[in-house]
Amino acid sequence: MIQAKIAEILESDQFLQEHHVKGWVRSFRSNRFIALNDGSGLKNLQCVIDFENTDEEIIKRINVGAAISVKGTLKESQGSQQRVEIEVNEIEILGDANPEEVKLTILSPKKHSMEKLREQAHLRVRTNTFGAVMRVRSRLSFAVHKYFQDRNFYYVNTPIITGSDAEGAGEMFKVTNLDLKNPPKNEDGSINYKEDFFGKETNLTVSGQLEAETFALGLGQVYTFGPTFRAENSNTSRHLAEFWMIEPEVAFCDLDGNMDLAEDFIKFVLKYVLENCKEDLEFLAERQENEDKLKPKAERSEMTLLEKLNFVLDNNFKRVSYTEAIEILKNSKPNKKKKFNYIIEEWGADLQSEHERYLVEKHFKCPVILFDYPANIKAFYMRLNEDGKTVRAMDILFPGIGEIVGGSQREERLDVLKEKMAELNIPEEELWWYLDTRKFGTCVHSGFGLGFERLVQFTTGMGNIRDVIPFPRTPQNAEF
Ligand code: 4AD
Ligand code: MG
Repeated sequence: MIQAKIAEILESDQFLQEHHVKGWVRSFRSNRFIALNDGSGLKNLQCVIDFENTDEEIIKRINVGAAISVKGTLKESQGSQQRVEIEVNEIEILGDANPEEVKLTILSPKKHSMEKLREQAHLRVRTNTFGAVMRVRSRLSFAVHKYFQDRNFYYVNTPIITGSDAEGAGEMFKVTNLDLKNPPKNEDGSINYKEDFFGKETNLTVSGQLEAETFALGLGQVYTFGPTFRAENSNTSRHLAEFWMIEPEVAFCDLDGNMDLAEDFIKFVLKYVLENCKEDLEFLAERQENEDKLKPKAERSEMTLLEKLNFVLDNNFKRVSYTEAIEILKNSKPNKKKKFNYIIEEWGADLQSEHERYLVEKHFKCPVILFDYPANIKAFYMRLNEDGKTVRAMDILFPGIGEIVGGSQREERLDVLKEKMAELNIPEEELWWYLDTRKFGTCVHSGFGLGFERLVQFTTGMGNIRDVIPFPRTPQNAEF
């Protein structure tokens, strides 16, 4: 008896051999043909029942959604829809699914909206679309580790609960076990965090960067890949309150090296899934094409999903300074015609996603790396340029996504860093350990953060970031 996953059986030539499979019924027609799926791939295995010789009670229980075990013989299929099928000799119902109740869920075989799927996030992994996205997501995360491990980067697990609130990457979620109804107070009425679990105020981390920097200055090249949290009230198709970020950090590497690394890394992981998730990506490409047909012409994508992925692989990312980008935007049609919500008037303006998307989708029509941003719209740790007004920052902008990567060369000069912190009222006591790295063997170093869900979104062509993470966390939404 061959125990195998359906994806393997569908490729198998072991005809006339006995096979044992377990999975969930996707459909059952003519009291004969079961479409069985076990999650190993997109395609179902057809299992053919000899209904005259099968107990009627069992047949009644072969319902959509039920878990079953099937033993049978692998045959070449008579039907044109599939190459092989299993002629069932023995069938066992492992877990029933009541058809009346299934009808009310997304398991019922008809078209359900992505919103409806989200409401039943515990079941949506059994749908073709979400199953495909989750398989691609898994392969992508393997590719992330493979890329760095093959290049002698070390994986570091930076803390999720953090005592420093200095990065300023976003609003934070508090971590406390104080009695919220009756918290201990200081004389001035403020909460006394000295009595809290950690003896100080703590939060969920927005980024592992500062800790990763300390590791890069010892292990040489490191990366994090973990959950990060931001309490921004952004209800967009590209923001989550809990998302996964990959943050490499490299000693003796400047901003050019950082851009090279980011571009090479993204191309590697895309190539990896193109080679290893063919079937799922083809399905997702078709899904996107169908979805596109419902949109007005102007909003449809010019390329299919696979064309888009290959385009990114085959072309250099366009590297443009912030200053050049502002010139392009100032002279752009939507700016002159006041079509942007935020009109670009002068150098120094923070770029909104409408501007980023204009640059990528309309002007350059390829991934863009913007670099050397004004110091005052970027974080304190970015290295100040000779001009005294820009910093060695870079953002990578992707079509349909906007910002997918944010990174920089870090300020390695102790005096410049201290000055910047003083300017922004960041107390040195809070980051004494970070400053220490600039006292003991400081060196040029750089890193970046890539939002994993935005990468999955780009790779799978999903329009909403909530559909590329198992259980999304967004404002007013943490059901599962
Ligand atoms: O640009 P960000 O804020 O950069 C940092 O956190 C740096 N510490 C990274 C570093 O240099 N090590 O975030 C990095 C990326 C963004 O480019 C975006 O892809 C993603 O994280 N991101 C989000 N993804 C989903 N939901 C959100 N709310 C996100 N905020 C940022
Ligand atoms: Mg950013």
